[in-house]
Amino acid sequence: MSTIQKKTTPINRTLSIVIPTYNESKNIVKILDSLRVAITREMNAEIIVVDDNSPDGTSNTVEEYAKNSKNHEYSIKVIRRDNKKGLSSAIVTGIQRAKGDAVVVMDSDMSHPPQTIPKMVEELQNSDYDIVVASRYVKGGTVSGWPFKRKLISKGATKIAQHGLGIKIKDPMSGFFAFKRHIVNNINFDAIGYKILLEILVKARGAKVKEIPYNFIDRTTGKSKMDVSVGVDYLKSVWKLYRYGKSVKVSERRTSVHFLSKAGRFYTVGASGLLVNYFVSFLFGAVLSNLWYIYATMIGIVFSMTTNFILNKIWTFEDRNFASKRTLMQYGLFLGFSGIGAVFQLLMVYGLVELRHVNYSIALFLAVAIASVGNFLLNKKWTFQEKVWS
Ligand code: GDD
Ligand code: MN
Repeated sequence: MSTIQKKTTPINRTLSIVIPTYNESKNIVKILDSLRVAITREMNAEIIVVDDNSPDGTSNTVEEYAKNSKNHEYSIKVIRRDNKKGLSSAIVTGIQRAKGDAVVVMDSDMSHPPQTIPKMVEELQNSDYDIVVASRYVKGGTVSGWPFKRKLISKGATKIAQHGLGIKIKDPMSGFFAFKRHIVNNINFDAIGYKILLEILVKARGAKVKEIPYNFIDRTTGKSKMDVSVGVDYLKSVWKLYRYGKSVKVSERRTSVHFLSKAGRFYTVGASGLLVNYFVSFLFGAVLSNLWYIYATMIGIVFSMTTNFILNKIWTFEDRNFASKRTLMQYGLFLGFSGIGAVFQLLMVYGLVELRHVNYSIALFLAVAIASVGNFLLNKKWTFQEKVWS
C-alpha cells in the first residue's frame, strides 16, 4: 500500500467581522446576505452581531437567520446586551469575543460596502500594515447621501482629531476598518461614544496604518443613531485621548527619572555602607581591645555589605520578597559582584598607575567610578532582575 502523504498548506487565517446593531431589523438581513457574496469560505470568517436588545427585535431576526445559515460562507454569533450602551462599547464587546487573526468592524445599515472587505483583509495579510481603514477622504473615496450639515460635522470632527491628537490619516472618523487582532490586546478601552477607531489609533502605538478608498452610501432604511449626545461624547473622548497621549509622554520621560533615582539610591546606600563599615570596625576594635584590628576591619566589611544588600533590596530596588532561597541567592550574587568590583578596581588602579603612569588619585577616581557603575548595572540586571533601562 502506498503511503503518499498529501501536503496541504493549513489554512489558518481567520477573520472576525464585528457588526453593531440597534434597531436594524430591516437592514441586518440585507447586510448578512450581501456578505455571503463578498466573503469566501477560504476566509474562515465569523460574523459577530452585537445587538443592544433592540426594541425592533433585531437580535431575534439575526438568531433566526443564524439557524438557517449552516451552509453559509461564514458562521454567525449573536451577542445580545441588556440595553443600549453605545456604539463603541458594542464594538469592544464584539472584539473581545472575536477569535479571528484579523478583525473587521462595519455598520449594519449598508453604508459600508462588503465588497471592500476582501481588499482590506488582503492588505492586512500581505503587508506589514496593522490597521487598514476604509476611507471616504482619500483619492477615490466618496460620501453619498449625506446632507451638507452632516458632511460639515464630519470634516470638523476630523480636523479636531488631526490637530488635537496628531492623527495623520485622512479619515480617522471612519466606522469601517480592519486590524490585526493582537494589536488591541493590551488596550484598556474607554469606548465612549462613536469613534472607537480613533481610540485604537491613539492607543495602539507604533501600529502601521493604511487607508483604502470606499464609497460611503447613507442608509436608505431606518434612522441614524447619531445625535447631539454623540457629539458631546466625541469631545469627551478626544479630551480623554489627549490626556492619555500626554500621560504616555510623561511616563516615557519617567524611564530616565526612574533609572537615575535608582542609581542615586544605590550610591546613597554605598555611602552609608562606608559609614557603617567605619563605625563597626571602630567599635569592634575599641570594645574588644584584644581583637586584632584586621579582624575588626573584616567584620566591618561584612557588616556593611550586609546592610548595603538589605537597603538596596528594600529601598533601591523595592523588592519586598524575602523568601529565604531567593534572598540568599540575591545576597550571594550581591557579594559576588562586590568582590568582582573590588578585584576590578584593584587591577585597574594598578594598571593605570604602573603601566600608564596615570596619577594615583585620577586612577583611583576612574576605577571607583567604573566599578561602581558596573556594580549598579550588574545588581540591577542579575541580582534584582530588572531591565537595565527602567
Ligand atoms: N449595539 C449598538 N449599540 N449598536 C449601535 C448603537 C448602540 O448604542 N448605536 C449605533 N449602533 C449601530 C447602528 O445600528 C449601525 O449599525 C452602526 O452602529 C452605525 O450607526 P449609525 O447611526 O448608522 O451611524 P452613522 O451612519 O450616523 O455613522 C456611521 O458611519 C460613519 C462613517 O463611517 C458610524 O459608523 C460613524 O462612526 C462613522 O463615522
Ligand atoms: Mn449609518
